[in-house]
Amino acid sequence: MNDPALEPQIYILDTGGQYTHLIARKVRELGVYAAVVASETATSLFGKARGLIISGGPSSVYEPGSPTIDGALLGAGLPVLGICYGQQLMAYRLDGAVTQGVKGEYGLAHLDIAGASPLFRGVANHQQVWMSHRDTVTTPPAGYAVLASTDTCAVAAIGNEATRQYGVQFHPEVVHTTEGMKILRNFIFSICGCREDWQPASRIPVVEQQIREVAGDRNVFFFVSGGVDSTVAYTLCLRALGEARVHGAYVDTGLMREGETAFVRGIFDSLGARHFRIEMAQEQFLGALAGETEPERKRKIIGEKFVTIQEAVLESGPYLDGHWILGQGTIYPDTIESGGTAKADLIKTHHNRVAGIQKLIEAKRIVEPLASFYKDEVREIGRELGLPAEFLDRHPFPGPGLGIRCLGAERDEPMEALAEGWIAPVHSVGVQGDSRSYRPVLIVDHLDHARATEAINANQRVNRVIGIVGLNVPMERLGVLASGISPERMARLRGADAAVRRLSGEAGFESQVWQFPVVLIPVGGDGRPDSVVLRPIHSVDGMTAQSVVMPEDLLRQMRETLLAIPGVAAVFYDLTHKPPGTIEWE
Ligand code: XMP
Repeated sequence: MNDPALEPQIYILDTGGQYTHLIARKVRELGVYAAVVASETATSLFGKARGLIISGGPSSVYEPGSPTIDGALLGAGLPVLGICYGQQLMAYRLDGAVTQGVKGEYGLAHLDIAGASPLFRGVANHQQVWMSHRDTVTTPPAGYAVLASTDTCAVAAIGNEATRQYGVQFHPEVVHTTEGMKILRNFIFSICGCREDWQPASRIPVVEQQIREVAGDRNVFFFVSGGVDSTVAYTLCLRALGEARVHGAYVDTGLMREGETAFVRGIFDSLGARHFRIEMAQEQFLGALAGETEPERKRKIIGEKFVTIQEAVLESGPYLDGHWILGQGTIYPDTIESGGTAKADLIKTHHNRVAGIQKLIEAKRIVEPLASFYKDEVREIGRELGLPAEFLDRHPFPGPGLGIRCLGAERDEPMEALAEGWIAPVHSVGVQGDSRSYRPVLIVDHLDHARATEAINANQRVNRVIGIVGLNVPMERLGVLASGISPERMARLRGADAAVRRLSGEAGFESQVWQFPVVLIPVGGDGRPDSVVLRPIHSVDGMTAQSVVMPEDLLRQMRETLLAIPGVAAVFYDLTHKPPGTIEWE
């Protein structure tokens, strides 16, 4: 839900692009409340808005069924900024010319600004911008001037000062566009005349009031994950309703990181949450997963176990009667209204719904205090509420936990030696365009990202490349060994993960990366059954990611520590970017 106590000044019209939410986040960072809506939304909804931004998207205006805008929109007198596909759509609707590209333009480009315009006021005449498009505008609509160009794109920005409507082919919202924020600032303040009205932490009293209104005289029950969103949502409910009216449960799946359950208990104790229980369910999860190696089936098993256990918890108390509603830590990009759930990730399934929860949702017996906030805003609120920074700044962690970082294999299989390395028949998930791949991995004896990228482009049989960090067993005696998830292997992975976190925390490396999965793969020999893979990555939102280089000293410490763990045959470094390899291996 959008914040009902506040009208958005800027609406982002979503045409299905991966940066749509990023645009709204950037506008909000500038202190202006912005919301995302479907691109076809009726113009009448924008009565009180000061301006509109049409997002980029993967379509071509010429494709049947491609996202469009309400027919009255461009004549409504509102300032509009079209970004990428948004610019093409504006030009197309106003009878300019859009040319279909065969080959796209992706990456950095140099923008030359043609002359003065309110959009580029104070912006350098030559600057770096980020391009990602196939089609281009070739003739601007009548009344529109060409405001900027690049070497390969003659119409990189257009504008009509009289109607206050502008378009840019590049992406001002991404960091690679050096002066992107200045351009957005010009649009929302100078062109649209917005005033600053958005400061997430100052919304806390409003959110608490909303919680009281939604709850009425009913109580709230939460399943918490130990993540930032559900904990901040729980804290807001505690403050709004008092500890007696807010109950919660946390399920220990046995797939958690070392010390996680104790950590979560500590947080909730310090919040004064008296009605908070921990469900110990390790054996049920590990039992159900035994022998399963296929990633999506593993996710399904984990999801179904969650359902069974959550169902039992709900039925063990009065929670399904009319006096209780369900609290959830849903954040803005996950709401259907913002296009979040509608365009859910097809590469891996992330969501599982409990039937009891589904009933509560259908009966509208839920409260989602964070449904109008982005992740960074939730952190800001958490800080204001006094939650510890070490908790708020934690890396994202997948729901199925270490369960999808402990890989198995159905049978023993040897490595295959090639000129450039070895193919290990351990399958991992990858992504290319919108499709999923599931392929073996290439092991190389260097840690050079550029060479690894070349190797993967040259070898379509694999979707991931890992470099050797250290070996307890020589390569020629390593092979893939049949295995599944077992308590012993989970303990090995938990130990390796904890060691990596400790070392990277001490070295300050933990705060430099977006996420740092540690993966256990069934590559072993000489009585040592497993290998550890390090996967430190940079990312903005998990959609794409870059494998990052680790300081040599730290890598040496990790090699020594991990090779000393009983049962570890080798340590590898994942050199694969996303695409073509996903962040998690499964
Ligand atoms: P991938 O592996 O798809 O990951 O590149 C992108 C982001 O999503 C997280 N992830 C998951 N999160 N349930 C979750 O809640 C899942 O099943 C799941 N799989 C991946 C991953 O950790 C990364 O942040």
